[in-house]
Amino acid sequence: MPGPTTPMGVRIAATAHYLPERILSNADLEKVMDTSDDWIVQRTGVRERHVCADAESVREMSTNVLKDLFRQSGVKPAELDLLILATVGSWMSCPSTACQILGDLAADPEFGPTNAGAFDMTVACSGFVYGMNIAHDLIRGGAYKNIAVIGTEHLTQYVEYSTRGRGTAILFGDGAGGAMLSPTGDTSKGLLAQSMRSDGAKWTDLYIPRHDRDFPEGDDHSILPLGIMRMNGRSVFRFAVGTFSDLIGETLEKAGLTADDVDQFVCHQSNVRILEAARERFGIPPEKMAVNIDRVGNTSAASVPILLGELWRDGTIKEGDRVMLVAFGAGLTWSSSLWQL
Ligand code: COA
Repeated sequence: MPGPTTPMGVRIAATAHYLPERILSNADLEKVMDTSDDWIVQRTGVRERHVCADAESVREMSTNVLKDLFRQSGVKPAELDLLILATVGSWMSCPSTACQILGDLAADPEFGPTNAGAFDMTVACSGFVYGMNIAHDLIRGGAYKNIAVIGTEHLTQYVEYSTRGRGTAILFGDGAGGAMLSPTGDTSKGLLAQSMRSDGAKWTDLYIPRHDRDFPEGDDHSILPLGIMRMNGRSVFRFAVGTFSDLIGETLEKAGLTADDVDQFVCHQSNVRILEAARERFGIPPEKMAVNIDRVGNTSAASVPILLGELWRDGTIKEGDRVMLVAFGAGLTWSSSLWQL
C-alpha cells in the first residue's frame, strides 16, 4: 500500500464513452431553420450529432460510462476513491450528479455501494481536461488510488432549433466519456506537463442566462428565451484560433518536447477550422490529430473523452504513447494535459 507521501506513477486504466442513439443530421436541421449542409460543413466540419432522447440525462449517460470504466479496468466500486464529473448540464444543482450516479450504482446488484468522494465541476468544454489534471496529481502524491473522471454534456437542452437559434444549434451534440486513473509503480507514467487557465473577462462570449439578472449590461434579452445559450461565435473563434495553438506550444515547452515527440493530440472538437489552424502551425500530420466532429458535433466536456475512448478502442492510442489532451470553452477556459502512457 502506498503511503500518503509516496510518489506514484499514474496510468489510464480504462476509457469508455457513450453516445445517445438518436442522430440529428444537417439535413434534419435544414427542415427547421434557414441553414444548409454546405454552410455547416464548411464553417464547422459537423455533419451530424447525437442528441439525448427526452428522458435521457447527464446522470444516465455518465452512469453508463462509469459502469464501463469499472468493467474494463477491473476496479471495483468499493475500490474507487473519487468520482469527478465535468458537466454544465445537470438537471439539479443539488445534490451533485456525481453523488446521484454513485447512488444509482449502489442500487445495481452488478456494482453495489461505494463511499468514494464525488463532485461535479463546472468548467464547460475544458472540464474533462481540468479533471484529468486534478485527478493525476491526487494519485501522483500517493494519497488517492482509483479516480474516475467523466465529462458529460447535454448541451442540446440549451439550444433552440430555429433560425434565430442556429448560431449554436448547428454546433452542439450530446454524449459522455471518461477515464479510470490508477497508480502504478512505474513513475515515468503520468503527466509530463499540464495547464489550467481562464480569462473571466470573456465570460460574456458564451453563457446560458437563467434569469434577467444574468445578462451582461448591453446584451439584448429578447433575441432568445432564458435558458438558451448565447454565443458570440466570431469572438470565440478568434480567441480559440490563437489560444488553442499557444496552449499546445506552451505545453510542449513545459515538457521540453516538440510536436514530433507527441504521438496523438486529442483535441476538443469545437470546429474543424480551429483544429486545422493548430495542426498547420506545428506541422502536425492529420493522423496525429484525429477528428470526429463530423459524426458527433461539439459535445463540450464529453468531446475529448469520447475521442480518447474511440482512439483507445481502435488501438490508435496505446501503452507507451505520448498523448496531449487539449480543450477550451466557456469561462473562457482552456486546459492541456500531456500524458506519458
Ligand atoms: N446557417 C446559415 N447561415 C448562417 C448560420 C447558419 N447556421 N449562422 C450564421 N449564418 C450567416 C449569418 O447570418 C451571416 O450572414 P450575413 O453575412 O448575410 O450577415 C453569415 O452566415 C456569417 O455569420 P457569422 O456568425 O459571422 O459566421 P461565422 O463565420 O463566424 O461562423 C460559427 C459561425 C459559429 C460557425 C463560428 O463563429 C464559430 O465556429 N465560432 C466558434 C464557436 C465555438 O467553437 N464555440 C464553442 C466553444 S467551446
